[in-house]
Amino acid sequence: MSKTIYILNGPNLNLLGKREPEIYGSDTLEDVEALCATEAALHDLDVVFAQSNHEGEIIDLIHEAREKAAGIVINPAAYTHTSVAILDALNTFEGPVIEVHISQVHKREAFRHHSYVSMRADAVMAGFGVNGYRLAVAQMGHLLG
Ligand code: DQA
Repeated sequence: MSKTIYILNGPNLNLLGKREPEIYGSDTLEDVEALCATEAALHDLDVVFAQSNHEGEIIDLIHEAREKAAGIVINPAAYTHTSVAILDALNTFEGPVIEVHISQVHKREAFRHHSYVSMRADAVMAGFGVNGYRLAVAQMGHLLG
């Protein structure tokens, strides 16, 4: 039976492709969803793909994943650097968690160098562009296979 993974995206990622393309590239979030679906199919994984600009909604999705998902891939966007609440929610999740950043956050402003989510994440992708999502899904396939 195939397993389900949740792929969660934080604030402003709905504007991917339009937002600072010199940093985040020209692919849209719909392109990322399609990329993830293609990779997930190779590993017999089902995907729930979601984006929210609201911290509480992301927390609710993590709580939902507790019941429905075997793993979580998350790009918490700016909440990466601020949200103890998202870290606490992820700490209630029992399966693997992979953190994704499109940009290489460690090459950018100092405030992007710290991630609360990294205190829970089993792996972190940063600087691979949107391909980081594909690599994270492939790693989920490996971990859950
Ligand atoms: C990001 C990096 C964050 O610092 C930033 O706030 C984002 C996107 C990334 O994917 O590179 O919104 O998570």
